[in-house]
Amino acid sequence: MTVPRILIFDSGMGGLTVATCVRAQLPNAELIYAADNAGFPYGAWKEEALVARIVHVMGALIERAKPDVVVIACNTASTLALAALREKYAVPFVGTVPAIKPAAAQTKSNIIGVLATPGTVSREYTHTLIHTYAFHCKVILHGAKRLAEIAEQKLKGHAPDLNELRDEIAPVFRKRDGKQTDVVVLACTHYPLVIDEMKLVAPWEVNYLDPAPAIARRVSDVVADLKLAGPQSGVSEPDTVLLTSARGSASESLAAYGAMGFRRHEFVDLPV
Ligand code: DGL
Repeated sequence: MTVPRILIFDSGMGGLTVATCVRAQLPNAELIYAADNAGFPYGAWKEEALVARIVHVMGALIERAKPDVVVIACNTASTLALAALREKYAVPFVGTVPAIKPAAAQTKSNIIGVLATPGTVSREYTHTLIHTYAFHCKVILHGAKRLAEIAEQKLKGHAPDLNELRDEIAPVFRKRDGKQTDVVVLACTHYPLVIDEMKLVAPWEVNYLDPAPAIARRVSDVVADLKLAGPQSGVSEPDTVLLTSARGSASESLAAYGAMGFRRHEFVDLPV
């Protein structure tokens, strides 16, 4: 079978949490990681402008990478732009949306925290998930303004300020009628990067839901359905990262991507 080429997309480095699971699930696949670092962070963008940005950037990335499958490893993008992407491009897309359904199945206290970007918190898509699957629960949706940036900085070698981190996550820890939050959905792919620090500053223990393993299984199913024919290429390409800008701390990011196995990089210049 031909080696599948999988394009994994995020605004920044958060999608690496998904890429790690995809690599474990499909060790022979060729992975191309793309970060719209020129547009990062997506959390504060206005919806209309962000859909246009994502559709535009994805066009250039598909043209460059010619993937068999695209993974939108970003809740902020998936909850907004998946339909527009599927309408415009023929390649199959796998999205990442808040794991509210599994959280509702798992909670014992019926108090669920959802940590996400301000964008994901405001999406109709997210509210529909809550009304459909968690109508019997108290869902505390919190738009963390700085958490994705803190996670990004950690990968670039800057240790998180634990007091700031505590303030970012505190609102999802709630007590009511003798019960308390027992499940927290990590509804931004950046957040598992700071899970150890979150556990350090959290007021009590909860289950954190990271959807990355489930996304990787879904990618594997989609790849199997493609039934890619042809000879297996003997040498697989080293995994590559595509960045939409060379600005700022590109060298720190490149070191971080390299440490995660993406040893080649290219700039696809797409200024905002
Ligand atoms: N990693 C992205 C997500 O899953 C968002 C980070 C950002 O650009 O704000 O939502």
